[in-house]
Amino acid sequence: MTCLPIIIAPDPRLKRKSIPVERVDDEVSRLMSDMLETMYAAPGIGLAAIQVGIPKRIIVVDVAGAEEPPAPIKLANPELVEVSDDDMCQEEGCLSLPDQFAVVVRPRAVTVRYLDEHNVKRHLRAEGMLATCIQHEIDHLEGILFVDHISAIRRNMILRRLVKARKAKELESAMA
Ligand code: NI
Repeated sequence: MTCLPIIIAPDPRLKRKSIPVERVDDEVSRLMSDMLETMYAAPGIGLAAIQVGIPKRIIVVDVAGAEEPPAPIKLANPELVEVSDDDMCQEEGCLSLPDQFAVVVRPRAVTVRYLDEHNVKRHLRAEGMLATCIQHEIDHLEGILFVDHISAIRRNMILRRLVKARKAKELESAMA
Protein backbone atom coordinates (compact mmCIF):
# COMPACT_ATOMS: atom_id res chain seq x y z
CA MET A 1 0.00 0.00 0.00
CA THR A 2 1.07 3.54 -0.68
CA CYS A 3 0.46 6.80 1.11
CA LEU A 4 -0.59 9.43 -1.44
CA PRO A 5 -0.04 13.22 -1.27
CA ILE A 6 -3.23 15.13 -0.40
CA ILE A 7 -4.21 18.26 -2.39
CA ILE A 8 -4.70 21.34 -0.21
CA ALA A 9 -7.33 24.03 -0.95
CA PRO A 10 -7.60 26.40 -2.66
CA ASP A 11 -6.77 24.29 -5.72
CA PRO A 12 -8.78 24.08 -8.97
CA ARG A 13 -8.53 20.28 -8.97
CA LEU A 14 -10.76 20.16 -5.87
CA LYS A 15 -13.52 21.93 -7.86
CA ARG A 16 -13.60 19.21 -10.53
CA LYS A 17 -16.51 16.86 -10.94
CA SER A 18 -15.40 13.22 -10.69
CA ILE A 19 -16.46 10.53 -13.15
CA PRO A 20 -18.03 7.15 -12.30
CA VAL A 21 -15.87 4.01 -12.35
CA GLU A 22 -16.96 1.38 -14.87
CA ARG A 23 -16.35 -1.42 -12.44
CA VAL A 24 -14.33 -2.00 -9.30
CA ASP A 25 -11.37 -3.95 -10.69
CA ASP A 26 -7.99 -4.64 -9.09
CA GLU A 27 -6.75 -1.15 -9.92
CA VAL A 28 -9.72 0.58 -8.26
CA SER A 29 -9.56 -1.79 -5.30
CA ARG A 30 -5.84 -1.01 -4.86
CA LEU A 31 -6.59 2.71 -5.02
CA MET A 32 -9.24 2.25 -2.28
CA SER A 33 -6.64 0.59 -0.04
CA ASP A 34 -4.07 3.33 -0.74
CA MET A 35 -6.70 5.98 0.02
CA LEU A 36 -7.53 4.31 3.34
CA GLU A 37 -3.86 4.18 4.30
CA THR A 38 -3.47 7.85 3.32
CA MET A 39 -6.56 8.75 5.38
CA TYR A 40 -5.40 6.84 8.49
CA ALA A 41 -1.90 8.37 8.25
CA ALA A 42 -3.26 11.93 8.00
CA PRO A 43 -5.25 11.13 10.27
CA GLY A 44 -8.79 11.65 9.02
CA ILE A 45 -12.21 9.95 8.91
CA GLY A 46 -12.96 10.30 5.19
CA LEU A 47 -11.21 10.81 1.85
CA ALA A 48 -12.34 11.23 -1.76
CA ALA A 49 -10.16 10.18 -4.72
CA ILE A 50 -10.08 13.75 -6.07
CA GLN A 51 -8.23 14.78 -2.89
CA VAL A 52 -5.30 12.68 -4.10
CA GLY A 53 -5.73 14.05 -7.64
CA ILE A 54 -7.79 11.21 -9.13
CA PRO A 55 -11.16 12.43 -10.53
CA LYS A 56 -12.99 9.13 -10.03
CA ARG A 57 -16.12 8.61 -7.94
CA ILE A 58 -14.43 6.72 -5.10
CA ILE A 59 -14.55 7.52 -1.38
CA VAL A 60 -13.38 5.83 1.82
CA VAL A 61 -14.62 6.48 5.36
CA ASP A 62 -14.02 5.21 8.88
CA VAL A 63 -15.71 7.05 11.74
CA ALA A 64 -14.76 4.55 14.46
CA GLY A 65 -13.47 6.20 17.64
CA ALA A 66 -9.90 5.81 18.88
CA GLU A 67 -11.01 3.12 21.37
CA GLU A 68 -13.09 1.18 18.83
CA PRO A 69 -11.92 -1.39 16.26
CA PRO A 70 -11.43 0.07 12.75
CA ALA A 71 -14.58 0.17 10.59
CA PRO A 72 -13.39 1.06 7.08
CA ILE A 73 -15.95 1.40 4.28
CA LYS A 74 -14.86 1.66 0.63
CA LEU A 75 -17.43 3.06 -1.80
CA ALA A 76 -17.36 3.47 -5.59
CA ASN A 77 -20.07 5.47 -7.40
CA PRO A 78 -21.83 6.36 -4.11
CA GLU A 79 -25.33 7.83 -4.57
CA LEU A 80 -27.77 9.08 -1.97
CA VAL A 81 -31.07 7.28 -2.51
CA GLU A 82 -32.77 8.55 0.65
CA VAL A 83 -32.27 11.48 2.99
CA SER A 84 -34.06 12.08 6.29
CA ASP A 85 -36.46 15.00 6.76
CA ASP A 86 -34.63 16.17 9.87
CA ASP A 87 -31.29 17.97 9.81
CA MET A 88 -28.29 17.89 12.07
CA CYS A 89 -25.52 20.41 12.82
CA GLN A 90 -22.02 19.02 13.01
CA GLU A 91 -18.60 20.60 13.07
CA GLU A 92 -16.70 19.49 9.98
CA GLY A 93 -13.10 19.57 8.90
CA CYS A 94 -11.35 18.27 5.79
CA LEU A 95 -7.89 16.88 5.04
CA SER A 96 -7.74 19.35 2.13
CA LEU A 97 -8.41 22.28 4.50
CA PRO A 98 -5.99 21.52 7.34
CA ASP A 99 -6.85 22.96 10.78
CA GLN A 100 -10.06 24.62 9.51
CA PHE A 101 -13.47 23.77 10.97
CA ALA A 102 -17.05 24.98 10.56
CA VAL A 103 -20.52 23.85 11.55
CA VAL A 104 -22.48 22.48 8.58
CA VAL A 105 -26.18 21.56 8.49
CA ARG A 106 -27.05 18.35 6.64
CA PRO A 107 -29.74 15.65 6.75
CA ARG A 108 -29.27 13.54 9.89
CA ALA A 109 -29.62 10.18 8.14
CA VAL A 110 -29.06 8.94 4.59
CA THR A 111 -29.18 5.75 2.58
CA VAL A 112 -26.34 5.38 0.10
CA ARG A 113 -26.11 2.98 -2.84
CA TYR A 114 -22.60 2.04 -4.00
CA LEU A 115 -20.24 -0.63 -5.32
CA ASP A 116 -17.97 -2.17 -2.69
CA GLU A 117 -14.32 -3.19 -3.18
CA HIS A 118 -15.48 -6.46 -4.80
CA ASN A 119 -17.75 -4.67 -7.31
CA VAL A 120 -20.83 -5.83 -5.38
CA LYS A 121 -23.85 -3.48 -5.29
CA ARG A 122 -24.68 -2.46 -1.74
CA HIS A 123 -26.95 -0.18 0.27
CA LEU A 124 -25.96 1.40 3.55
CA ARG A 125 -28.16 3.30 5.97
CA ALA A 126 -26.10 5.82 7.93
CA GLU A 127 -26.95 8.20 10.75
CA GLY A 128 -25.14 10.88 12.69
CA MET A 129 -21.41 11.19 12.18
CA LEU A 130 -21.27 8.47 9.48
CA ALA A 131 -24.10 10.16 7.53
CA THR A 132 -22.29 13.52 7.76
CA CYS A 133 -19.01 12.00 6.64
CA ILE A 134 -20.55 10.18 3.65
CA GLN A 135 -22.35 13.35 2.52
CA HIS A 136 -19.16 15.40 2.91
CA GLU A 137 -17.21 12.89 0.77
CA ILE A 138 -19.93 12.64 -1.91
CA ASP A 139 -19.80 16.45 -2.10
CA HIS A 140 -16.11 16.19 -3.04
CA LEU A 141 -17.12 14.14 -6.10
CA GLU A 142 -19.18 17.14 -7.25
CA GLY A 143 -16.33 19.58 -6.57
CA ILE A 144 -18.04 20.86 -3.42
CA LEU A 145 -16.14 21.55 -0.19
CA PHE A 146 -17.72 21.88 3.27
CA VAL A 147 -16.94 25.60 3.22
CA ASP A 148 -19.32 25.91 0.23
CA HIS A 149 -22.15 25.24 2.73
CA ILE A 150 -21.32 28.16 5.01
CA SER A 151 -21.54 31.94 4.55
CA ALA A 152 -19.26 33.64 2.03
CA ILE A 153 -17.71 35.70 4.83
CA ARG A 154 -16.68 32.64 6.82
CA ARG A 155 -15.64 30.73 3.67
CA ASN A 156 -13.36 33.55 2.50
CA MET A 157 -11.88 33.86 5.96
CA ILE A 158 -10.95 30.16 5.92
CA LEU A 159 -9.60 30.28 2.35
CA ARG A 160 -7.45 33.32 3.16
CA ARG A 161 -6.04 31.50 6.18
CA LEU A 162 -5.14 28.53 3.96
CA VAL A 163 -3.40 30.78 1.42
CA LYS A 164 -1.50 32.48 4.24
CA ALA A 165 -0.44 29.09 5.67
CA ARG A 166 0.74 27.96 2.22
CA LYS A 167 2.81 31.13 1.73
CA ALA A 168 4.37 30.75 5.17
CA LYS A 169 5.27 27.16 4.35
CA GLU A 170 6.79 28.15 0.99
CA LEU A 171 8.81 30.89 2.64
CA GLU A 172 9.97 28.45 5.28
CA SER A 173 11.19 25.91 2.71
CA ALA A 174 12.82 28.67 0.62
CA MET A 175 14.83 29.73 3.66
CA ALA A 176 15.80 26.19 4.66
NI1 NI B 1 -13.11 16.66 2.82
